[in-house]
Amino acid sequence: MEPLIHRLGYIALNVSDLEGAVEDARQIAGAALVAQAPDRALLSSNARHAELILHRADHSSLRCIGLETLHPENVDEVARRAQDAGLTIISDTPSLPVIERAVSIAFPEGHVIEAHTPMPRDRAPRYAGPGIHPRYLDHVNLTARDPATSAQAMMQVLGLKLSERTQGWELAWMRAGDGRHHTVGIAKSPEGGGLHHYSWEFADFADFKRLGDVLDAQDRTLVWGPGRHGAGDNIFAYYVDAAGFLVETTAEMEIIADPHFQPRIVEPGENLSNYKVVNRWGQLPSHAWLNHFNACAILS
Ligand SMILES: [Fe+2]
Repeated sequence: MEPLIHRLGYIALNVSDLEGAVEDARQIAGAALVAQAPDRALLSSNARHAELILHRADHSSLRCIGLETLHPENVDEVARRAQDAGLTIISDTPSLPVIERAVSIAFPEGHVIEAHTPMPRDRAPRYAGPGIHPRYLDHVNLTARDPATSAQAMMQVLGLKLSERTQGWELAWMRAGDGRHHTVGIAKSPEGGGLHHYSWEFADFADFKRLGDVLDAQDRTLVWGPGRHGAGDNIFAYYVDAAGFLVETTAEMEIIADPHFQPRIVEPGENLSNYKVVNRWGQLPSHAWLNHFNACAILS
């Protein structure tokens, strides 16, 4: 059966300084501003209508993750499965008027996920302007006190497939229909349900050099990287944006085409010290990276 979810749709974040957050996403990542209303801004890095959605709020938090289905009937199936699993359906009204059909579900530790029909491709694929200009929004990495329970609920309801996990489910990576090693990751955190990071896909290794230089020009630094993750085989570098979210930039993520792929079970080592899983190039994560956390809006 075709996977219910095809790819990441968008990430919606609450931010206290909307104008500052928009400026940061334009100047550093290099996303383009699609539309700005008094309380909400839409940004995209390609032809898709919106990938990063910023809402004005009292403080920074994870508002919602959009996961894209290819067919309206998949939205209905997700809603059926959510009801069967006893999860709360928050809304069946799409969060944006350009989205045809959607259902928003609250998962066990407060993550709200909107399964929605495709974001319209109604913009020019390329644009002028500052920043690095990523190719698209690539994945999210959530946090949970009990990641195994949240991950299993997401696989059961959304049809995500497990690509890899650690022995004790401290870290798990799940893929969608586009086969990317992970579209949704989830990590154990004593803080509970939230967001660890979200990620833009870069086109070329030279983009990582430019990222470091652009941050340096603003007297800022990378939080970790560049390096290459063992899980996902992707190149990475991380920074913290103006609103306090951890942003990953990535390239070359592993593609898993085999629907019967057996998930890998890996041992990350104490405090993520196993280089082969964490960073094959050797540098281990900083404390700032390890401890990063933004709460879910529903719990904050
Ligand atoms: Fe990541």
